[in-house]
Amino acid sequence: MEKGEALVYMNYKLIDMKIFGDERGKLISLEGNHNVPFEIKRVYWIFDTIPNQKRGMHAHTNMEQIIVAMDGACEFILDDGIKREKVLLNRPDLGLYIGKNMWREMQNFSYGCKLMILASSYYDENEYIRDYNVFLKTVNQNKGQNGQ
Ligand code: TYD
Repeated sequence: MEKGEALVYMNYKLIDMKIFGDERGKLISLEGNHNVPFEIKRVYWIFDTIPNQKRGMHAHTNMEQIIVAMDGACEFILDDGIKREKVLLNRPDLGLYIGKNMWREMQNFSYGCKLMILASSYYDENEYIRDYNVFLKTVNQNKGQNGQ
């Protein structure tokens, strides 16, 4: 984190996406730096998920994402090191934006759940924090830097 950069707690939001619908069906369009608040560098999707298998369990120091459940549903646990909140993704017109330095866990996948993820950076294992205790240390250090 840059010196002086504000630390944002619970750095996520749910976005109701605009649907273009008519008698033929529905369409949603996402554009980088327009209705997606970053330049889209990477798209990936998660499929063939298994209900009792958790995924995620990590934070990103330098990546923002938007996640959409294109089909099915799953829960996200979002944690800023102080608070934990649970969010249900269950509609293809609902986007979950997750900013930097947020721990996330994905659980309770419905059979056939498909998640599409738009990311603000290329895949870089070095910007992952996969240990919860390291995550807590990192966010607490950031708080110190911001005089909080
Ligand atoms: P992982 O981070 O475990 O997925 P999740 O966030 O769902 O828990 O990623 C699974 C594997 O895929 C791991 O070996 C890293 C690799 N991977 C890439 O190579 N590129 C990517 O863009 C992503 C997201 C993962």
